[in-house]
Amino acid sequence: MKILVTGGAGYIGSHAVVELQEAGYQPVIVDNFSNSQETALAGIEAILQVKVPVYRIDCANVAALRGVFAAEKDIAAVIHFAAHKAVGESVAEPLKYYQNNVGSLLTLLQVMGEFGVDKLVFSSSCTVYGVPDALPVTEATPTQPANSPYGRTKQMAEDILRDMAGANGPHTILLRYFNPIGAHASARIGELPLGVPNNLVPFITQTAAGLREKLMIYGTDYATADGSCVRDYIHVVDLAQAHVVAVRRLLAGAATERVETFNVGTGRGNTVLEVIHAFEQASGQQLNYAIGPRRPGDVPAIFADATKAAEVLGFETKTSLADSLASSWKWQQALSMSE
Ligand code: UFG
Repeated sequence: MKILVTGGAGYIGSHAVVELQEAGYQPVIVDNFSNSQETALAGIEAILQVKVPVYRIDCANVAALRGVFAAEKDIAAVIHFAAHKAVGESVAEPLKYYQNNVGSLLTLLQVMGEFGVDKLVFSSSCTVYGVPDALPVTEATPTQPANSPYGRTKQMAEDILRDMAGANGPHTILLRYFNPIGAHASARIGELPLGVPNNLVPFITQTAAGLREKLMIYGTDYATADGSCVRDYIHVVDLAQAHVVAVRRLLAGAATERVETFNVGTGRGNTVLEVIHAFEQASGQQLNYAIGPRRPGDVPAIFADATKAAEVLGFETKTSLADSLASSWKWQQALSMSE
């Protein structure tokens, strides 16, 4: 069965394409390569030893997207990863975020409707919980006003999909991701941050590789075990597998609500300092780091209650923090060798 994967050349999308194909589905990639690279396609092919169809289009372009649905004819379900994702950039360029993240979803919904495709897995984020009152967060934890245009696009998308569900829209599974890290065990695909990374783990691996002088820890005065922020770091292959499970559920008609929502995290919270020390152990590298001021907009602590995904989807993560970080380091070394 054909599964359209928008953003299929991106970090999470490329890993999902691999897991889908290995689970017996036929992924079809749509990507505009605004924040992804052709090398991801070579990596996917090297892992799978098959050529996955790729459409180099912007899925906010209605005519182009129609062309994909018409050419592929029998798309069974869509996974919509394609979106901009940099929190800081979204503050500086909100229009870019609303146009792309909301615009592409609207176009996709329109074209899915035209072609009678009614199953959708959507990439949401734990950012919808804002600064939660209690931890861990369950799917019933109230959402809070987003603190960036990026976060608002995720909340808007969830609202749009719930509105659509009341009007015969697609059967939808919203996956609220926590912090994806790591890379495929083959080190053929992984995260490819453009320029200076915003996220912790690529900054760590680039520092260890000598590409950055030092990692700055954004605050150690939070009310956490060691004062640094707490996040739930999930291995990207585990996260990719959650999409396979979600697609299977939709295709089996097993969903009990028109829109279902699941946290996708490990259920463990780790501080920034714990991640650094786990990385040092896993890689054997000593990391140059310093303690700096808080980063504006950071949530002090958040991690998932992963019970619903376990009970309803039968989904549980398999990879430890140490193994996830080891895979990030292996990927960084492979990247450094190829440059
Ligand atoms: N951090 C540092 N130094 C760095 C980078 C990050 O100390 O150089 C810290 C941050 O302060 C935070 C933790 O590492 O405590 C994780 O930061 P990331 O930027 O890797 O991830 P965030 O949790 O801030 O962001 C992630 C996603 C966003 C999403 C957000 C929701 O990247 O897309 O979760 O909370 F919006």
